[in-house]
Amino acid sequence: MARRRRNKIVEFIRLNNFATEGKALGRKEGKVYFVENGVPGDLVDVIVVKNRTDYAKAKIHRLIEPSPERIEPFCSHFEWCGGCKWQFLDYENQLKYKQQIVTDTLKRIGKLTLPEPLPIAGAKPTTYYRNKMEYSFSHTRWLTPQEIENEEIIEQEPALGMHVPGFYDKIVDIQHCYLQDDLANQIRNWVKSYALENDLSFFNIQQQEGLLRTMFIRNTTLNEWMIIMNFYEDEPKKIIELLSHLEQAFPQITSFHYVHNNKGNDTITDLPITCWKGKGYINEQLGDLTFKISPKSFFQTNSYQAKTLYDIVLKFANLKLSDVVYDLYSGTGTIGLYMAKYCKQVIGIESIEDAVLDAQINKNNNQINNATFYAGEVRSLFEEVVQKHGKADVIIVDPPRAGLHKTAVELLLQSNAPKIIYVSCNPATQARDLSLMEHQYDIKQYQPVDMFPHTYHIENVVELVLKEGE
Ligand SMILES: C[S@@+](CC[C@H](N)C(=O)[O-])C[C@H]1O[C@@H](n2cnc3c(N)ncnc32)[C@H](O)[C@@H]1O
Repeated sequence: MARRRRNKIVEFIRLNNFATEGKALGRKEGKVYFVENGVPGDLVDVIVVKNRTDYAKAKIHRLIEPSPERIEPFCSHFEWCGGCKWQFLDYENQLKYKQQIVTDTLKRIGKLTLPEPLPIAGAKPTTYYRNKMEYSFSHTRWLTPQEIENEEIIEQEPALGMHVPGFYDKIVDIQHCYLQDDLANQIRNWVKSYALENDLSFFNIQQQEGLLRTMFIRNTTLNEWMIIMNFYEDEPKKIIELLSHLEQAFPQITSFHYVHNNKGNDTITDLPITCWKGKGYINEQLGDLTFKISPKSFFQTNSYQAKTLYDIVLKFANLKLSDVVYDLYSGTGTIGLYMAKYCKQVIGIESIEDAVLDAQINKNNNQINNATFYAGEVRSLFEEVVQKHGKADVIIVDPPRAGLHKTAVELLLQSNAPKIIYVSCNPATQARDLSLMEHQYDIKQYQPVDMFPHTYHIENVVELVLKEGE
């Protein structure tokens, strides 16, 4: 029988910085080690999980000397939950490192010439700030190695909670989460208790069976609440009873939805969602505008910081009333509508049709009459839309984590717009895209924004100006 090769252990590495994806890095004998859950200043032995000639990915095997920057995480689920991986740093240090990661990434991946960064816009509040959470049901909860070793657990217990990072099939049972308003904790815990008391089955991912699969909770600063229950099996009586009891228990919920998903993955954006009760959407307010959010619509997950982000975009855009502004990857139209009163015309392009319908409703509800939104892919629609509405004075792009498609970059370059504002939730793909534009655009200013305290995620806004003579 072939013997399993043990992962290599490398001793005495002093970690000295953070890289993208929140991993700490250290060097030994010419090799860079990216260490999960490490903090700059830690002295560690690591266990290598991926070995390459010039770098390795590793986990901490032994924490010999903890960094003076390490603090005690405040959440009891911290060790195993994928939610807030940076709770081991105080908030000031989180901001310091996020700022540094953005600059390092733009330089390392994009090889870009950069001005001095503007100081990162920190968040307030730093807990209970998310407006959307997805929780997963599992017929067995994740058992910690200590629990297994101590043989504390005899019976299998179901779970409703979050994934263990890197494991699509392991769910940490959550009792209290600091990410969304505490009512979300009450709703989630209530649903779990109801399911157990009424014998509703939790999803078994290996066997592909069970009624309850995932649940989304969305809320807004206007205190409107939405539930989207995702069922694997179709048991109408049990579903309606659950929703009816949930409605009685939580009058704060203003919009109830459910969906049947018996596909191989959890995504529900390609499935029809049924509105069981309520008006079918929730409203959010940013500045003096209100926005309608449907179950499938993207909305910035931290409403408090969304306003900060959009104010930075507005400042960078420095609009004139004669400007034609393109809002690409426009979601529910929030950025474009936020700009509308400062320019002549806003044109948005967004791939999700429901989000475009919301953008149109948002436009009407806010009595804005100089904005038009199109449903489709940026790379397929942009040229046609420009022919119709005219050349852009300012283009704002806010793509998903994967960044811009190469064709989209080419179209942006062809447009020769005097100014492009690139909003990104992934500095690595942003750096890649900016390097493709560097011959034609200078980076005038950039500012990171912390949308997600206690996580390593970071948003960055870059203002690009057309080089002279282009
Ligand atoms: C990061 S969100 C930005 C949304 C919006 N700007 C906001 O602030 O709420 C990215 C949006 O791009 C959309 N999207 C993804 N790929 C796209 C594509 N190829 N063409 C157009 N829109 C796309 C997504 O549906 C999502 O709404």
